[in-house]
Amino acid sequence: MAIINRIGDMQPEIAAWRQDIHAHPELQFDVHRTAGVVAEKLKAFGCDEVATGIGRTGVVGVIKGKKGQGSTRVIGLRADMDALPITEITGLPYASTNPGKMHACGHDGHTAMLLGAAKYLAETRNFAGTAIVIFQPAEEGGGGGREMVKEGMMDRFGIEEVYGMHNYPGLPLGDFAIRSGPMMASADRLYIDIEGLGGHAARPHVSIDTVLVGAQIINQIQSIVARNVDPLESAVISITQFHAGTADNIIPQTARLSGTARTLDPNVRDLVEKRLFEVIEGTAKLYGATAKLVYKRDYPVTRNHERQTAFAAEVAREVVGKDRVDDQVPPVMGAEDFSYMLEARPGAFIFVGNGDTAGLHHPAYNFNDELIPVGSSYWVKLVETAMRG
Ligand code: NI
Repeated sequence: MAIINRIGDMQPEIAAWRQDIHAHPELQFDVHRTAGVVAEKLKAFGCDEVATGIGRTGVVGVIKGKKGQGSTRVIGLRADMDALPITEITGLPYASTNPGKMHACGHDGHTAMLLGAAKYLAETRNFAGTAIVIFQPAEEGGGGGREMVKEGMMDRFGIEEVYGMHNYPGLPLGDFAIRSGPMMASADRLYIDIEGLGGHAARPHVSIDTVLVGAQIINQIQSIVARNVDPLESAVISITQFHAGTADNIIPQTARLSGTARTLDPNVRDLVEKRLFEVIEGTAKLYGATAKLVYKRDYPVTRNHERQTAFAAEVAREVVGKDRVDDQVPPVMGAEDFSYMLEARPGAFIFVGNGDTAGLHHPAYNFNDELIPVGSSYWVKLVETAMRG
């Protein structure tokens, strides 16, 4: 293990920041308190510049190294700040004080670990170039990372490469997992409005039953994954909502389905989108109904760049040892809006084990504070190694 000693010493302090953020979870772009705490700390650490309000409520800190004067290298490190609309059941002394909101994805830990690294880097500045610490809002569905990129963050701060990290329950505590290429899926949204002919439930022959049509659509679209997508490629289509009807003796005039489509490849994404329109409209037509699909492209594939992935894995090996870093982990079908940063600049996204805990987005989940020295050391070593001077 090569945890940086000073960071090991800082663990209780960083854990206290994490627990304070945990007690005050905020959603989407509405992360004013969290962003305020982050900006205040970055200023107190002596960052050369602290910019707020980027991508609405994002915060960026600039830390210039003292080695190799004149080095123009610039590396971005990103954490996310937002929580989830979940009621916490952990019973922790620092559990959420905001009813119905909870840090159930560990973004409290991500923010604290990057703050810890920022404090260390601002104190030591033992690198040649500039470290940019990025704290984004609205990772959980709002596209805060996309907003920051759209506002020109990469150019404004001259970021050349960008790195992200997410804790991973079920992976042994402090182990790292990464892969080159697609690491996480694209996530698109489906909204399907079905129109039939309402009527008495006892007279189906003079009605067009939107519940039956909806059920057929749900079944038929699974043929896209089973029979259109190459079996060696990956795709998921899940219908997660089916709304119809008002009483048990009425055939409803309309029904609404919604769900998500996930893929790891742009061609598969195009294919799934095209076939969804055909299968949904065609199935409805078969029953004399109409169905209108709105297909909303959302987060793209989180695609790790080859050179930066090899580098990130090397840094992780330096921190926890080579047998605790898997650089060939299979991709997962979850999504990340760090993907927008990876579309804008080369970089890599890495998982770090949270140990045997409740899963992400579960009401009993908690970020493991034992992970702090590992995560903060990874960030510091990444900067010091990439910009050794
Ligand atoms: Ni998350």
